[in-house]
Amino acid sequence: MSSHRLTIGIPKEIMLGERRVAATPETVRRLVSAGATVVVETGAGAGSFFADDEYRAAGAELSPDAEAVFAKSDLILKVKEPRFSDQIGKHEVDLMREGQCLITFLHPASPANHPTIRKLAAKGVTALSLDSIPRISRAQTMDALTSMSTAAGYKAVLMAANMLPIFVPMISSAVGTTQPASVLVIGAGVAGLQSLATAKRLGAVVSAADIRPDACEQAMSLGAKIIDLQIPAEVAVGKGGYAMKLPEKWLVKEQQALRQGVSSADIIILTALIPGKVAPILITEEMVKSMKTGSVIVDVAIDQGGNCEISEAAKLVTKHGVNIDGTLNIPSMLPRSSTWMFASNVYNLVVYLIKEGKVNLDTDDEIIASSLVTKDGKILHAGALEAMTPQ
Ligand code: NAI
Repeated sequence: MSSHRLTIGIPKEIMLGERRVAATPETVRRLVSAGATVVVETGAGAGSFFADDEYRAAGAELSPDAEAVFAKSDLILKVKEPRFSDQIGKHEVDLMREGQCLITFLHPASPANHPTIRKLAAKGVTALSLDSIPRISRAQTMDALTSMSTAAGYKAVLMAANMLPIFVPMISSAVGTTQPASVLVIGAGVAGLQSLATAKRLGAVVSAADIRPDACEQAMSLGAKIIDLQIPAEVAVGKGGYAMKLPEKWLVKEQQALRQGVSSADIIILTALIPGKVAPILITEEMVKSMKTGSVIVDVAIDQGGNCEISEAAKLVTKHGVNIDGTLNIPSMLPRSSTWMFASNVYNLVVYLIKEGKVNLDTDDEIIASSLVTKDGKILHAGALEAMTPQ
C-alpha cells in the first residue's frame, strides 16, 4: 500500500454502549508508515482502553471535534453504521461529502438500515460494508463478522457461567463431587463453535444442534454430543453452503427435536442465524417452562431478533425461573480484544483497497464488488436492493 496524500479519519463511536473503535495505535502506526495521515477523535479508543497518547505516539493527529475528523478525511473507518449524533445534533452521514469513502458494518439488507443506506447514496458517499466481505480464503484476514462472532461466542459462555448458580466443571471437595454443568449450543457456526470450545475449557458437558451437517461435524470434533434435528439437508442448506430459512413445518419439527436437550440443559447459548434474515425462533415459552430453575439462556442472536420466543432485547429477564439474557452487541463487552480483531480486519481491507494513494474500487474484484454498498449516488449492494424491492 502506498497511502501518500490519503487522510483517514477514526471517529469515536456514538451508539449507546459501543466501546469498540475502528483502529488501534498499532494499525494507526502501520497506516502512518505507509504514508497516510490519520486523524483520531479524542477519546475514540477510551472504551477499549487505548489512550489518546498511544494514538499520538503512533503518529496520529488527535482532534476533539467529530465534525473536523469527518471533514478532514478522505476515508472514514467506523465500527457501526452512521447514526444521528445527539451531541452535535446532526446525523453522521450529514458530516460526510460526495466522493468520501466509508468502511464500517452497515448490514445493508436489514430494513432498519435502509434509511441510512438511502441517505449515504443521496450524499454520494462511497460506502463499503464489512459484513458483506465474501467468505473466501483470500478475504479471511478482512472478515470482521467472523472476528466478532468469535468474541460473542466466547463472552456469551462467560456471561452464562457467571449467572449460573452451580459450578460449571466437576468439582471434587471434602463434602463430595459435583456433576459438571451441561451446556447446549444451538447454531454451531463461528460463534457457536467458539461457545462450545469455551464451555468445554470450563469443564462443561457440551451438546450442540445445527441444521447444517458440516456445522454438526465441526461441533462433534470439539467434543459436543449432537442433537439430531432430522431436517433434510436440501431444506436446510442453500447456495454456498449457508443455512436457509426453514418452512414453518420444519421449524416446528426442529423445536420438537430440541425439547429433551433444552429441558436438561443448565446453560443454553443461542446463535442460530440466517444471513440477511430475522433469526428463527427455536425455543418457545413452553420449552423455557420445562427448564430447571436457575438455568440460563444467552440469546446471542438477539441483534437479529433472537432465537428464544421470550427473550427481550437489551434486557436480562427472569421468566419461569430461567434467566434469559438478551444483551445486545456482545462483542462490545470484550472491547479490547474485539477492537484488536476488528481494527486488524479493517486495516487489512484498507491495505487491499489503497492503490497509489487512492481507494481502488475495481468492481471486477469479488471482495470489492460484494462489499460495495453505495457509490456515485447509487445503491449497488445486491442484498440491500433485493430487500428494498417490494415483493
Ligand atoms: P451465521 O452466524 O449466519 O449462523 C450461525 C449458525 O446458525 C450457522 O451454523 C447456521 O447453520 C445455524 N442455523 C441457522 N438456522 C438454524 C436453525 N434453524 N437451527 C439451528 N441452527 C441454525 O453463520 P456463521 O457462523 O457466520 O458462518 C456460517 C458459515 O460460513 C459456515 O459454513 C462457516 O464455516 C462459513 N464461514 C466461512 C468463512 C471463510 O471461508 N472465510 C469464514 C466464516 C464462516
